[in-house]
Amino acid sequence: MANLLATKPLNLLMEEARETGEHSLKRALGPTNLITLGIGAIIGAGIFVLTGAAAAQYAGPAIVLSFVLAGIGCAFAGLCYSEFASLIPIAGSAYTYGYATLGEIFAWIIGWDLILEYAFGAATVASGWSGYFNSFLQDFGIHLPPAWTATPGTDLVMYNARWERLATILPTLQAHRVNPSTLPHVQGVFNMLAFLAITAVTVVLVIGIKESANLNSGIVMIKIAIVLTFIGIAAIFVSKHPGIAAANWHPFIPPNTGEFGHYGWSGIARGAGVIFFAYIGFDAVSTAAQEAKNPQRDMPIGILGSLVICTILYILVAGLLTGVVSYTTLNVPDPVAVGIDHTGVRWGSILVKLGAIAGLGSVMLVMLLGQSRVFFSMSRDGLLPPWAGAIHPKFRTPWISSITVGIFVAIFASVIPIGILGELVSIGTLLAFVIVCAGVWILRRRRPELKRPFKTPWVPFVPFMGILIAGFMMASLPRDTWLRLIVWLIIGMVVYFGYGRHHSRVQAALAKPSPAPTMAD
Ligand code: ALA
Repeated sequence: MANLLATKPLNLLMEEARETGEHSLKRALGPTNLITLGIGAIIGAGIFVLTGAAAAQYAGPAIVLSFVLAGIGCAFAGLCYSEFASLIPIAGSAYTYGYATLGEIFAWIIGWDLILEYAFGAATVASGWSGYFNSFLQDFGIHLPPAWTATPGTDLVMYNARWERLATILPTLQAHRVNPSTLPHVQGVFNMLAFLAITAVTVVLVIGIKESANLNSGIVMIKIAIVLTFIGIAAIFVSKHPGIAAANWHPFIPPNTGEFGHYGWSGIARGAGVIFFAYIGFDAVSTAAQEAKNPQRDMPIGILGSLVICTILYILVAGLLTGVVSYTTLNVPDPVAVGIDHTGVRWGSILVKLGAIAGLGSVMLVMLLGQSRVFFSMSRDGLLPPWAGAIHPKFRTPWISSITVGIFVAIFASVIPIGILGELVSIGTLLAFVIVCAGVWILRRRRPELKRPFKTPWVPFVPFMGILIAGFMMASLPRDTWLRLIVWLIIGMVVYFGYGRHHSRVQAALAKPSPAPTMAD
């Protein structure tokens, strides 16, 4: 039993972090690249899609407070990630931090769990992306075969000359007293758009880290410009129509309906749980640690810088959106586009849709990048087969791992409904946050003397709060999601005991009679 808890020696990790040459990843990223990588992963479906439903159903204008709350929770985790990412700048992120502190079995669990965050995260966003893209094409009268734009079994109906998901459009149909069974109807077969989006992103990832980072930076500039355009237009509207804004913001915290989570303070908490998805991604910066030129200095800059910038933008967007339109009208798939339409700026909604299409592209890019880097680290440790860590001699990217991940993610995105994917992503990410926060705390106690380039302030308060808030958000997720998590972890255990445990390099070192390897470095 004891060797399941074998830790990977820190000096070995630090040696690996210093590796160079054609079998290592290419160190090409500076602080600006890392911040844009973080923003690339963060701003996406959360702000462009989920904000509206969360404001309309749970928090009202106080969705701003939900963003503050979720932002604070992420800040605790972000501070812990920063300490680890600068101390152990290895592509495996939380998986590697777990290996150094909690032991191999926990490292494996985290690595397996990160698949839920990164691979399923990319699949979720691909699914959201296909919805926006298809809607954009339909704005111009272009109709793709509907059965090939949705996951199997999704009900689609033709309404107002557009194919829409029945679940999304049902409230509108009910409001207009339209019986859905009278409308042309098709069932989804395969989401080809999501499949193609993941395929395209995978090709970019295989070609190179610098190319991927440059494409990401370009997209991030576009999406920040569009978010700022929304903020500018909405701020002008609010300043010209203070009466409308005041009426929309009142009451700021709508009274609770008597049901937990429906407005009032519990609604703010539930809203935070929903829009937590909007913040996922800042931790993906840590998977680029072996591709950063100066990870000790730049990892915290990338992680915390991107988190701070996005938190400010989110609070501004949410505050202005609920000032421009009444929160009661925001339960739509494109709330930001609806908001800008209300300001009377005609080109606004097209611009916002373009921003979402480009923006979600970079989220997929960074999530897939993160996933292949975690596999790279796991393979280097022997827990996954060697091909998962193979580096392309010319492109210097983990190409086989990127392609394998790309194929699986493209299939998940095309066949699994977005709701199931999204909740799995949230629970997987929150579990990783809990383990990283606990790891910082444990390592401070075990190895207080280590020179940490970045120190999480107020330990153990910050890790404790990180664990508490993430645990609270996990507890608020449905039972089915917990069951899926447990099934996923059991599958992981089968893979570990079937392969990883017998090929682990740390286990092999422990089995050697001399020199005696250390259990905890
Ligand atoms: N934060 C990312 C998004 O909102 C996952 O799309």
